Amino acid sequence: SDQPVYRATTTAPVNIAVIKYWGKRDTTLNLPTNSSLSVTLSQRSLRTLTTASASANYPAEDTLNLNGKPQEIQSSKRTLACLSNLRALRKSLEDADASLPKLSALPLRIVSENNFPTAAGLASSAAGFAALVRAVANLYQLPQSPRELSRIARQGSGSACRSLMGGYVAWRTGEQADGSDSLAEEVAPASHWPEMRALILVVSAEKKDVPSTEGMQTTVATSDLFATRAQSVVPERMDAIEAAIRDRDFPKFAEITMRDSNTFHATCLDSWPPIFYMNDVSRAAVRLVHDINRAVGRTVAAYTFDAGPNAVIYYEEKDSELVAGTVKAILGASASGWEGPFYEDLANLTAP
Ligand code: PMV
Repeated sequence: SDQPVYRATTTAPVNIAVIKYWGKRDTTLNLPTNSSLSVTLSQRSLRTLTTASASANYPAEDTLNLNGKPQEIQSSKRTLACLSNLRALRKSLEDADASLPKLSALPLRIVSENNFPTAAGLASSAAGFAALVRAVANLYQLPQSPRELSRIARQGSGSACRSLMGGYVAWRTGEQADGSDSLAEEVAPASHWPEMRALILVVSAEKKDVPSTEGMQTTVATSDLFATRAQSVVPERMDAIEAAIRDRDFPKFAEITMRDSNTFHATCLDSWPPIFYMNDVSRAAVRLVHDINRAVGRTVAAYTFDAGPNAVIYYEEKDSELVAGTVKAILGASASGWEGPFYEDLANLTAP
């Protein structure tokens, strides 16, 4: 108990996809069937805080505590994969420089906390694995870039690879069977579109019905729509939304975002048995966004839904009153069935 404790603390942001990742071509390595693109949120309201420490004082096995509860990491292949990849990188540093402390040989203690509901379709696994990888990489003083670390975070949770960078982030499918080129890449920095805002509407903070891995498996195996989406719909949308981001063309960005959320949920409905992530309250948000856009006469708001009923609404700062004000006034009324809370986030103002 007199041995040194090495420690690193970090936070990681949530990212919300506008082109959804849905479907794996390799379930062990988390290799996707289609590329995806997300906006990294600012950590103003949603973030994971993680401390990684290593010490000879600790019991021999690595431990992970999430929101105050010990986790079974020995049965979590995903977590073990991340940790063994990170250890191997540390080990090669130690092999090259004998003066470095042998942290790779020490047990790890990881303590992680979300300031928002876990596993409720709020991308908690993305922020969680990104924070875990970043914290251990910092502890090990690894020289790898966020892009290189995204290969490791991806194995924890696919979407986590996109939370290692700020701004607009693409995750390219890659072609290699070993996943070496299935990486995240910044499409535009946080500062490129400082007007972007996100409103997160928590419909339900309950755990989601069908975990994303299981849902993807069912969709890949049973949906007829799925192949069309992955092979032809998404590649065109990736090009189009990257152009919309480059041009800061909100109406284009918004239409592609809404259509892609709808197509993703259509492949869920087309799965057998069908998977429902959105509920009546989610659909009320969809209708409201279309009503607002129609009433204003231009597209000022875009909704998107992950593997759960919660809505994320993107808009530009100049339309805050119009969008966030109206959505809160209407869906915030008790009769709407909304449980709340609402989180407002300055999308991508600060890089993680
Ligand atoms: O990273 P996972 O395995 O939790 O999957 C996330 C899937 C979606 O959130 C629905 C889409 C996405 O691209 O984030």
